[in-house]
Amino acid sequence: MEQNIAVGKQGWLGTARRDTWWVEPLLILVGLSAFGIYSTYSAVFWDYHFEIGPYLSPFYEPLLVFDWWPFSPAILILWIPLGFRTTCYYYRGAYWRSFFANPPACAVTGWEGKNYAGEAKFPIFVLNFHRYFMYAALLLNVMLWVGAVRSYWWQGELGIGLGSIILTINAFLLMMYSLGCHSLRHLVGGKLDCFSCSSCARTRKRIWDYITRWNEHHKFWAWVSLIWVAFTDFYVRMVSSGVFNDPNTWSNFPRP
Ligand code: FES
Repeated sequence: MEQNIAVGKQGWLGTARRDTWWVEPLLILVGLSAFGIYSTYSAVFWDYHFEIGPYLSPFYEPLLVFDWWPFSPAILILWIPLGFRTTCYYYRGAYWRSFFANPPACAVTGWEGKNYAGEAKFPIFVLNFHRYFMYAALLLNVMLWVGAVRSYWWQGELGIGLGSIILTINAFLLMMYSLGCHSLRHLVGGKLDCFSCSSCARTRKRIWDYITRWNEHHKFWAWVSLIWVAFTDFYVRMVSSGVFNDPNTWSNFPRP
């Protein structure tokens, strides 16, 4: 009711704030839209030039190729990071403000939102599955590390290339994003009334302390890992299609 009165008085986006409150939701809107368009195009419609030599785009890791699957192999993987990010506690607030403007920022009038029923009804109810996406995402993190390590090995020869470094940074950033997850923090330290009552509790407390530290910067890891994973995919594609030459130590590295 109060919100409706505010809308009537001030109109949409009405506020007494004098700061540039609109910059952050606008940047989020542009950033997430750009990533959504690029990743959809890359994974769904550009299903070639995604690997070269020991490098495989992270959108395709692990590479699952089946005769019965007529679409891009990336689709078999991408539902995991997509579900993980869409249900992430940080991203929920971010896209709720930027895309639905309900409200767009603190003390700024948004849409009336008469039908909002919390997370009790479909489709917002789906956000409760975050923990399950997290299990799958942690597994995917392991696969990304496998891909990063594999990128130092080509045709029986240990080496290093710019792509190896980019893939390694990508695995690290996505790991930091996943390890700062609120659900993981709760999984490790939740339902624990006494931190010092047993050796198991003390170990959990120690891990919980680490996750808490990473969790404090969850927003940072969320954005840096998002930008870097798109950049990594782009880099592999550019090398694979012959636009860039990857500087590396292998004499037999394929040249498209
Ligand atoms: S809360 Fe962001 S990944 Fe779990």
